[in-house]
This record gives sequence, structure tokens and C-alpha cells, in this order.
Amino acid sequence: MAPRKIIIDTDPGQDDAVAILLALASPELDVLGITAVAGNVPLPLTQKNARIVCELAGRPETRVFAGCDAPLKRKLVTAEHVHGKTGLDGPKMDDPVMPLQDQHAVDFLIETLRAEPEKTVTLCPLGPLTNIATAFLKAPDIIPRVQEIVLMGGAYFEVGNITPAAEFNIYVDPEAAEIVFKSGVPLVVMPLDVTHKALTTRPRIEAFRALGTKPGTMVAEWTDFFERFDMEKYGSQGAPLHDPCVIAYLLDPYLFSGREINVEIETTSELTLGMTVADWWRVTKRPANCLFIGDIQADGFFRLLTDRIGRL
Ligand code: BDR
Ligand code: CA
Repeated sequence: MAPRKIIIDTDPGQDDAVAILLALASPELDVLGITAVAGNVPLPLTQKNARIVCELAGRPETRVFAGCDAPLKRKLVTAEHVHGKTGLDGPKMDDPVMPLQDQHAVDFLIETLRAEPEKTVTLCPLGPLTNIATAFLKAPDIIPRVQEIVLMGGAYFEVGNITPAAEFNIYVDPEAAEIVFKSGVPLVVMPLDVTHKALTTRPRIEAFRALGTKPGTMVAEWTDFFERFDMEKYGSQGAPLHDPCVIAYLLDPYLFSGREINVEIETTSELTLGMTVADWWRVTKRPANCLFIGDIQADGFFRLLTDRIGRL
């Protein structure tokens, strides 16, 4: 079967980095490009980090594009408190030598979706949804051309990680999230409810290190770095590997389970801004607009991840 064509929209971030490595290590996927967005850290760092990760994967020919440097209507909120000053704190890394593409990420998204046959390109957003929403606003004709969007964002049972009510990616650009959730594109959502079950543990981290490769060591050191934050906050046994869930879903959807439900984005309330109001119990008649994932077979997920990272 021909590999599935994807575009990864991302704000690396250690967990974004692991997701990119997983995608680049997987022959089932054809990464048409990586579009960087402002999120965990500002855009100059996210586009640079994306290139660092491509080089680490031994794939410097991957095209990386810089996109929007601020949310649609709001000031950028970043997450250095989780990911460190560079966004990829932990191991020391050299600056990338591979080039950044000249084209704006939004124009790349539009051009690619127009050029590829209809419904053959899947979008994988791992950060705030600014690039995707901007492309949809600028070129609404591309919306029905998207095969599927599989994104990391939101929360229901786990509520918020950046505010009591909101998950980071949705909170940073709720207006963009609203556009995506209302777009009508088939949508799969990986909320905190599932990513908080994809926890690194000591044996899982050591399995990455035991690969004895540079990518394996980097993944172990990145997770070592950012797990301290979640362990202190949640008292959990490790840190959630949020963003790789998106790529793992494309490789093996049977690792996950969820419900087809309606999810609306809160864009007005100061108190609950960016909340994903998920009708998990189907108490309204609002039509389903996404598959909202709730569970993961974590051991299978980490087996897949370790096996694939080991191929790099
Ligand atoms: C999301 O926010 C970022 O900090 C992570 O990279 C992930 O995409 C989790 O809320
Ligand atoms: Ca991210």
C-alpha cells in the first residue's frame, strides 16, 4: 500500500520531537512537510527545533516551513516552564544546518492540499491550531480536500493543564481551534484524557536509552528532562508523551478507543477560555464532530515507539 501522506503541524517541544521521530521512522507515512507554529516556545525556536529533529532522524531533506508567530486574536502564551527555554531542553544539541523553506507554512498547506488528489492528505496538528485555521480562512476550498485531521489537544475528564479548565494547545488559540472543530473535516482528537495514560516510566525510558543510538539516547534525555514537571504536578510515575499519540494512531488505531461526540470550544468566558466542552455522555442533540479518544493500550504504544525509534 502507498504510504499515507501527512503534514505535521508542530511547536517542538520534547513530545512533539518524539512524534516527529516516530513519523520519520515509519514507512507507512510520507511526511510531505513539517509546518512550525508558535506555541511551547516562540516561532524562531519551534522552526529551528523541527529542523534539529529532522537531522537527528537522519532526514535533512524533510521540508520544514515557518508559519504563524502569534495566535489569531490573542497574545502568545508559551510553556517554557514545561519544556525549558529552548523548547527542547535536556541534552545539548547543535544548531541545524539543513535549510528552512522560504515559503510560509500556511501557503505550503494551501498549495499542497490543492495539488494533491482530494482527500489524500492528513493533517497532524501537535500545537496551537493557528496555521491550520489561517489556511482554512485564507483558502476555504481546501477544507473539503483534507482527508482527516488527527490532533493533540483538549481534555474532558482531565480538565486543564494550563488553566483549571483548558489544555495548552486549545487555550493558546481558541479561535483557531473553533474554526477547526467546526470545519466539518473528519477529526480525531487526542485529549489529555488519553495522553495522561501514555506515561513514561523508568523502564520505558531505559528501553529508549538501551537502543544505544543517538535518537534513542536523545528521547531518553528529553523525557528525563520534562518528566520532572509532570511528576511534581500530578504525582504521577512519569510524564505524558502527548503528541506521539497522534502519529501512533495513524500507525495502529487499534491501540486507542474513544467516542464519536460533539465538542465545542469556549472562546468567550474568561474563566474557562479554551475549554473543550465535550458531550461525552451525549446529553445534548448537538451533532458529533469528532472521534474523542479516551483510552490507550500504553504498553503497546511504548513498544511501537521504542521499535520505531530503534530503526532510526
Ligand atoms: C500539549 O502542549 C504542549 O506542551 C505539548 O507539546 C502538547 O502538544 C499538551 O497540553
Ligand atoms: Ca506540542
